[in-house]
Parts: sequence; C-alpha cells; structure tokens
Amino acid sequence: MSRFLVSKCICHSREFSEIKEYAKENNFSSVEELQAQDFCGCGCGLCIPYIDLMLETGETAFEPGAYYKKKSTKGMPSEDR
Ligand code: FES
Repeated sequence: MSRFLVSKCICHSREFSEIKEYAKENNFSSVEELQAQDFCGCGCGLCIPYIDLMLETGETAFEPGAYYKKKSTKGMPSEDR
C-alpha cells in the first residue's frame, strides 16, 4: 500500500470529500455535471478518473492508479466466465 493517497483535485484545491458533498447536495452523478459548474476537474484532468470512482464507490481517497487497476481487471478472462 502506498503512503500517498489521491484525495483531492489539486487544480481546484478541493478535497474529494468536499466534492462528494457538493455532488450530493446538487444531485450530481457525473464528472461532467461537476465540471459544468467549474467545481473540479477543469484543469489538468488528472483527478477525473478518481472523481468518477468516488461517485461510483463513495470513497474519497485512493491508491495511485486505483481507477486504472480497477479498469484493468475488467474483461479479464476470469470475469467472462
Ligand atoms: S487535479 Fe483536478 S483538474 Fe487537475
């Protein structure tokens, strides 16, 4: 386990916990809705897959690459059976 966890949109200086609360208050369920409000994810975009994962799981801190690790398990032969 990494000592470093991804837990914020650096470009907007917003913790994922704050983004999660804002999404809940506004009934948003997609990164695009948050971006349309210029709330997060409009800078470098590196946080976008993590925010996507946050909206899906409710978690607010992730191992670096967690989104990609999750995606890489999709389509593995064992899941197709
Ligand atoms: S870290 Fe979120 S847009 Fe750059």
